Amino acid sequence: MAKSAKSSRKNTKSRNPDAIALLKNDHAEVTALFEKFEKGQKRLQDAQKEQLAQKICKMLTVHTQIEEEIFYPACREQIEDAESLLAEAKVEHQSAKELIAQIQDGSPGGEEYDAQVIVLGEYVRHHVKEEQNELFPKARKSGMDLKALGQELAERKSSLMAGEEDEGAENPSMAAQ
Ligand SMILES: [Fe+2]
Ligand SMILES: [Fe+2]
Repeated sequence: MAKSAKSSRKNTKSRNPDAIALLKNDHAEVTALFEKFEKGQKRLQDAQKEQLAQKICKMLTVHTQIEEEIFYPACREQIEDAESLLAEAKVEHQSAKELIAQIQDGSPGGEEYDAQVIVLGEYVRHHVKEEQNELFPKARKSGMDLKALGQELAERKSSLMAGEEDEGAENPSMAAQ
């Protein structure tokens, strides 16, 4: 089914999601992974749980980073009354990051690992609700250039997902346990 990318190169810009669509899509993807983990809690093997949890952590790390680097600053600039929402968002990201670090340092098998992933899911759902019900409508109304921002978010996301940015964090192959 793979068409030649070269010959069918249309105006790719118009097909790119705007900033809100991109972020919502991330939210939906990570929520689905949390559901998979929750539903499989009794059934999944440790290795599968770990794989899922690591995927969740990676996605959330990239998502929070692109929001903090690109989307939130744009909101701060363009939306008049976003300050308190953005302050809350920052605190919520911080709590999520602490839990992400614990999950990444931990391993499945104990009760706590599952609990950490499940509580992270609760944090994230709450945070997502606030973004989607409060921040995003304000952003939409502000008239900010969501298309251009979407492009910027997408580029940053794909370089972070590919690990082009050295975050100095993960190098599992080096773990000498
Ligand atoms: Fe966020
Ligand atoms: Fe978000």
